Amino acid sequence: MRKMLIAGNWKMNKTIPESLQLIHDLMRKLDSDCPAEVVLIPPFISLSSAAEALRGSDIQLGAQNLSHLAEGAVTGEISASMLISVGCRYVLVGHSERRNLFQEDDTVINQKLKTALSEGLHAILCVGETWKDREAGKTKDIIGNQLKRGLEGLSLMEMRKISIAYEPVWAIGTGKNAQPGQAQEVHEAIRSELSSQYDPETAKATRIIYGGSVTPDSSPSLMSQPDIDGALVGGASLDADSFYAIINAVK
Ligand code: PGA
Repeated sequence: MRKMLIAGNWKMNKTIPESLQLIHDLMRKLDSDCPAEVVLIPPFISLSSAAEALRGSDIQLGAQNLSHLAEGAVTGEISASMLISVGCRYVLVGHSERRNLFQEDDTVINQKLKTALSEGLHAILCVGETWKDREAGKTKDIIGNQLKRGLEGLSLMEMRKISIAYEPVWAIGTGKNAQPGQAQEVHEAIRSELSSQYDPETAKATRIIYGGSVTPDSSPSLMSQPDIDGALVGGASLDADSFYAIINAVK
């Protein structure tokens, strides 16, 4: 059985005090029999204080990005070993905002995955199509290519430490989320792509989570789809009440 994964991607929001307040509010709400694995993904600058605040809780910490290089003269970058040392267990790789705003291509995304895994991080690889791609009927081709190129050269063992986030670019931060059936169709296609790239067992074990304007209202029907194993939540993770409601929708 795949345990549901609910991750909150705070993007470039929350100062350190605001991050701590949100963590505090969330921890007060979450009970010990939380139905999902919960991951908080604050900005880099809050990671250290967040790790301290989360000590002893079941909530995991993740980072929004990492360098594809291990160390050295790479001004402004953060390495996988730094993320491990601050207490991160997860890292996002290939978010569409990184692909679009910072020109990250599948080659660099593949390097980032390899670097993350070599240091022991779990990676969440984000894939998704634009509205133009969808209208042109290219959704599955685009995502198939992102998976092939992004995962190139990664072993079966490495694949076991990767989750996939399906995030239709047109649904991110727009208030338009994919209909549960539309999302399920793509998740199923992703699982079948993983099955041919790896094997059916690995495909079955891999968590494929949905992201794109997930809210407390939209999450129950999305989370009840057979191939949707959780959510990557942006805007609605910035508020303790709405993020808690999304976590609880897993029940
Ligand atoms: P959103 O962001 O929930 O605000 O659409 C999701 C994401 O980009 O991970």
